[in-house]
Amino acid sequence: MSTTAHHHTSGAAACASAPGKVILFGEHFVVHGTDAILCAINRRVSITATETANGVKIRSCIGNINTDSLDAPINSIKTALRPLYYIAQTASRRAGFRRGINLDVTSEIPSGAGLGSSSACCAAGAAAVLRLLGLDASREKVLGLAVDAERVIFPDASGADTAASVLGGMLTYSRQSGYTNIPFDSPPGFGLIVANSGIIHDTEHMVRQVENHKKRNSSEFSLLCQKESELILKVLEILRGHDSLKAAELGRMATRNQSYLESIGVSNERLGEMIRVMRSLTYGAKITGAGGGGCAIAFTKEDRLAKIYDELIGRGYDCFAAKIDCAGLNTF
Ligand code: MEV
Repeated sequence: MSTTAHHHTSGAAACASAPGKVILFGEHFVVHGTDAILCAINRRVSITATETANGVKIRSCIGNINTDSLDAPINSIKTALRPLYYIAQTASRRAGFRRGINLDVTSEIPSGAGLGSSSACCAAGAAAVLRLLGLDASREKVLGLAVDAERVIFPDASGADTAASVLGGMLTYSRQSGYTNIPFDSPPGFGLIVANSGIIHDTEHMVRQVENHKKRNSSEFSLLCQKESELILKVLEILRGHDSLKAAELGRMATRNQSYLESIGVSNERLGEMIRVMRSLTYGAKITGAGGGGCAIAFTKEDRLAKIYDELIGRGYDCFAAKIDCAGLNTF
């Protein structure tokens, strides 16, 4: 028997990679209409899409999918990989494609840590599949398909994370107005340390928890949304201002934003403890992403990053100095 007998691929392949992100300010409140400020970071998900005989085969470090059909009801697909199946299914229908798609996923972004691994996956997956099938793979089309895909597991997703993964750099995002790029210098005038609490969180669960909190405390919640909006405006002003003040002022804003996040119940003892340690070494720290676990960020001067990294590692924290990713989505 020929060694190629089991090979159904036509040889066509499309690869794409997309960065994870940190939310600098505005997580959760962005779901309820305020702006958030995000930046893409130098940790990526890469996906290679190839054609196969039938169905959807996905290989990733969080699991595999192996279906014989491109038409499975979307809810029958194992949760974490459902968005990628959705992308393969939707793009195939759009292209009138009736064979199958293989997706190979590799990731440098820990999942369930608030660093945008699922958004980066959706962005890279959408770009790879659209290109494989010869469809329009402009950034707008990729973002549209990636956000739709994210919403098959998480219907309330604001789209903020996905925008950061596709566009790269630093940006504001709101549900009403979409994204706006924030120009920044290189280096940006502040250093970012990310520390991982090691507690896996579920973004959808945390968003639902905030929704319940909002129902029980609606006037307090709308006051906090207003304060968050004011804080975001202040941060934008700081980012336009003088480099020598950025790190300290952003740190102060982070500490203030953390107090709002604590008010809506997304911090906990272990995160609070980690944030206190980070704060003692930097200008200020806060949760990044959904909270309940996952990561926190701290602002410092760029020339202090190595020292603070060593201190945190010495105290047993899993951390890294994040760089802003300027490229966003890459295809090759
Ligand atoms: C999760 O990284 C950010 C949240 O604001 C949810 C969202 O924006 O979809 C908690």
